[in-house]
Amino acid sequence: MPDFVGAVDQGTTSTRFMIFDHDGGEVAKFQLEHEQILPRAGWVEHNPIEIRTRTAAVIQSTLQRAGLQPSDLAAIGITNQRETTVVWNRRTGRPYYNAIVWQDTRTDKIAAALERDGRGQVIRDRTGLHPDAYFSGGKIQWILENVDGVREAVDRGEAVFGTTDTWTVWNLTGGVDGGVHVTDVTNASRTMLMDLDTLDWDDELLSFFGIPRAMLPEIRPSSDPTAYGVTTPFGTAAGEVPITAILGDQQAATVGQVCFSPGEAKNTYGTGNFLLLNTGTERVRSQSGLLTTVAYKFGDQPAVFALEGSIAVTGSAVQWLRDQLHIITSAPQSETLARQVEDSGGMYFVPAFSGLFAPYWRADARGAIVGMSRYNTDAHLARATLEAICYQSRDVVEAMQQDSGVVLDVLRVDGGVTANDLCMQLQSDILGVPVSRPVVAETTALGAAYAAGLAVGFWQDTDELRAHWVEDRRWEPGWSEEQREKGYAGWKKAVTKAFDWAET
Ligand code: G3P
Repeated sequence: MPDFVGAVDQGTTSTRFMIFDHDGGEVAKFQLEHEQILPRAGWVEHNPIEIRTRTAAVIQSTLQRAGLQPSDLAAIGITNQRETTVVWNRRTGRPYYNAIVWQDTRTDKIAAALERDGRGQVIRDRTGLHPDAYFSGGKIQWILENVDGVREAVDRGEAVFGTTDTWTVWNLTGGVDGGVHVTDVTNASRTMLMDLDTLDWDDELLSFFGIPRAMLPEIRPSSDPTAYGVTTPFGTAAGEVPITAILGDQQAATVGQVCFSPGEAKNTYGTGNFLLLNTGTERVRSQSGLLTTVAYKFGDQPAVFALEGSIAVTGSAVQWLRDQLHIITSAPQSETLARQVEDSGGMYFVPAFSGLFAPYWRADARGAIVGMSRYNTDAHLARATLEAICYQSRDVVEAMQQDSGVVLDVLRVDGGVTANDLCMQLQSDILGVPVSRPVVAETTALGAAYAAGLAVGFWQDTDELRAHWVEDRRWEPGWSEEQREKGYAGWKKAVTKAFDWAET
């Protein structure tokens, strides 16, 4: 058995490849960013060809940096930004349109029509999701209706759909020369097209969007001893490595954080924030604005479900301070700037750039900065931005506690923003519970590697993985109860100012 496992993490801003050893330790990694294409207000696209090229490049560079060959990898796992939609021609390998990214709100009217036509409840019951522009179904419909020639190509059996896991696996396993067209249950559960009971595409749901079943990938377990396929020279500079895991990135982070028991939860701070609570093999229906989603399915074992609080804009609000407002030149500077002041000086920033996701599900919301006086500075705005990340997380923690009755005694965190010490302290202050970060903060890639390694016997079971989890840092709450509740009441009021802002 080779000594290492690899993981491709095809994320919203970059694609990375990581190699892990038997102890779950990081051996090597390399990542490349791709362009964020913003053609109009509310539209966000990626170039699938750029993603394909960068995926091959990061795999090859990481292997080179580690001085390893493909044959040193026992298996590769794939994890990805979820919901982002690619439709391409399986004969030529060419996409018909850019990837429509999960943050893109162009299909909000499609989502609103579902609700108006009385289909919202069917979608909620069957898929665990709220009809929203966030999910893939409406994005596929938009491509079918707006891009010339796609519908005919579907009828000819040439145009196919995939989220970026599917696109990546298809390319890594040969592309036009026999690439496999598969996805896993976690990614399929983000399309509004899969029934959570059958774990299969649902004909009635497909009919809501006018999507032919023939263009959809086969749904497979998240960790599969029968490999989906093997890599071709395109991906690995020669060498066939079995691809044995696919997991949406938030589900992968749940696995990487070893949340294998009901009641265990993690919060990942990336472009957005995603809090997932393992609810075991039981589907818990949310009454509080959370999603029900598949956490993972290992081989032929039953699927494990999660309640998810999805927040669209957290780390990307910090990017907005950097790229649009230019008040900082790097993300870490948000901490330096915010530390110049004691508090946000009464300011609240609701970064509803893609509407508001959980627990509000208001596609019509738009960003709002409220509570300002002439006293306020860019430092207050930086602090209000970090607080907004934490208040949004409190919103979903409250919803989760209402739905599940599980009261968190500690919040496990990971992702890029967890390097921001002030933000993590504020998170603990605002929640009133300790916040804990593991040594391996790259839990998304780690989770995909774990799932891939379990499939081939590189790791025996989840208990072995649990033993790898080691705390790196813990933040304890410092605010008084009064301060916490006053701050949160201000946030709830600020959120109401972001509603009803979109053009009608
Ligand atoms: O649902 C969207 C999510 O999967 C994106 O995650 O980490 O790429 O921002 P990330």
